Amino acid sequence: MTTGSLLVADLVIAVLAAAAWLGGGAASAARRRPLALGLAAVALLATLTRAITITALARAGWWFAAEKVLIAAPLSLAAVGVAGPRLLRAPGDIRAVAVPLLFAGYATSSALLLTVLHGYPASAGAGLLAVAGVVAATVISARALGARPSRTVSRVALVVAVAALLTGTGLTVAPGAAPAVPHDHGLAAARIADEPTRRFTLTAATATVDAGGRNVAAWAFNGQVPGPELTATVGDVLEVTLRNRDIGRGVTLHWHGYDVPNDQDGVPGVTQAAVRPGQEFVYRFRADQAGTYWYHTHSASDVGVRMGLYGVLVVRPGPVTGLDVTVPVHTLAGRPLPAPRVEKLDAGVPVRLRLINTDSTTHRYAVAGTAFRVAAIDGVDLRGPTPLVDTAVLIPAGGRYDLVFDAPATPVALFVDGRTVYSTGPVSTATGAWPVLDPLGYGATAPVPWSRFDKTFTLVLDRGLDLRGLLPRYAHTVNGAADPDIPPQVVRLGDVVRFTIVNRSQVVHPWHLHGHHVLVLARDGEPVAGSPLWLDSFDVRPGEVWEVAFRADNPGMWANHCHNLAHADAGMTLHLMYS
Ligand code: C2O
Ligand code: CU
Repeated sequence: MTTGSLLVADLVIAVLAAAAWLGGGAASAARRRPLALGLAAVALLATLTRAITITALARAGWWFAAEKVLIAAPLSLAAVGVAGPRLLRAPGDIRAVAVPLLFAGYATSSALLLTVLHGYPASAGAGLLAVAGVVAATVISARALGARPSRTVSRVALVVAVAALLTGTGLTVAPGAAPAVPHDHGLAAARIADEPTRRFTLTAATATVDAGGRNVAAWAFNGQVPGPELTATVGDVLEVTLRNRDIGRGVTLHWHGYDVPNDQDGVPGVTQAAVRPGQEFVYRFRADQAGTYWYHTHSASDVGVRMGLYGVLVVRPGPVTGLDVTVPVHTLAGRPLPAPRVEKLDAGVPVRLRLINTDSTTHRYAVAGTAFRVAAIDGVDLRGPTPLVDTAVLIPAGGRYDLVFDAPATPVALFVDGRTVYSTGPVSTATGAWPVLDPLGYGATAPVPWSRFDKTFTLVLDRGLDLRGLLPRYAHTVNGAADPDIPPQVVRLGDVVRFTIVNRSQVVHPWHLHGHHVLVLARDGEPVAGSPLWLDSFDVRPGEVWEVAFRADNPGMWANHCHNLAHADAGMTLHLMYS
């Protein structure tokens, strides 16, 4: 069983246990004896089963089980200890076990709430609040049911509840690490002095565009979605003038995956101010890395990118040979945008398909009718890529794969999520059952260039209640905090930095660090067994643990976030900062 499915199984069992204890308590209060005993038996069984799932999760990594071991397990033990013996005595009046069963129900539910609302790291404050809740709910139920606990029992319960509540609240609302992210700190523009060799102007404006045969409202660069394709040759100096005509939320240009100087990175409030309607900003950087990239607004990025403020950036090492085509996949107003047309494909022509996922969720791509190789991922060439046949690839949000092949004389086709995007004739469309390429085991290995790390950071991805803002929200969290309360990661120029990224949530998080490509070291403890992978966007699936590293060689303040942009917006953003 994968850790991801263990997390789901444990959650389901915990819900079952809590519901069965509470149901049993209610049934016994209503004197429904067989129902009460049946539910109590289910509850007991489910509670004991969690010993197995919690142990397995703890073995997969402490991050997955901390609050379950430290808080849920003791509360569950208390539940079993209180309700179990009373049930075994099989009381004549079933109503006598109502309060113990309800206590068990409150104990298991509060542990469950703790996992769902608080998550990692387990904190004493949250644990105490859970205890306070359980004691208070039990006392109230006992009163309501007319049970007369002795004075001492009531007094002790009151004292425990109040003490737990006060200490718990105190510990929980204690000021967290203040965000040390300066806003609009106006880095001195270290703009390169060289004369630009490639000039572009991108004007952002609201527009109506054709999305597969239907007119939809969009936000567009130069009236089109995607925006104009920006191309350059290695060595070019790009100058891109961004103008905002009427996008009220502001616009910037972020060069996704392109490791530009920090002041050209386009993150509003961090590297520049958002460009407001009527304003402009000029970006300038040297194209010194070849490969497939893209640009998008980073101002209100979730809605901005979704509405269409993005485009392709391709830097080639030299003149185009053969057929070289970019396929940015995007969903606009709920519909996949059509891909650019390919007129014809002559047999023997070398083809490079630059696949780009500009959506916030993973897409599945399949090339049918030919063998192909994955030449590059996230703009960086792979080492010794071997031919693949009848194999699909999964591209994370923000990620790029370059697929290469020589055009065969027979038809070929490209499918995205089972939909035909290109085809030069009839091919088998049964790509849904194809295996998926695991890039961590593809191509030729090379040693990791570092053996020691100057800094290590762990990012535990989860969900949790965020009460620090004006309105409470159910945030996507990193180490239990949400943007802007996640402490920045501080490194020094030249450091070799290692990140461990742990996903203990139920959804995929496509991770994206600005300004640097990271080298994948391992996933779930398994070292990379193929070509070195220098990525800027990678899917951390539920239950996965990724180890990646990079050299801190690009000073500044860099966003480090989930590229499911709705998650980034809902808290899953932090910053990497050079001291
Ligand atoms: Cu493509 Cu911070 O984003
Ligand atoms: Cu995410």
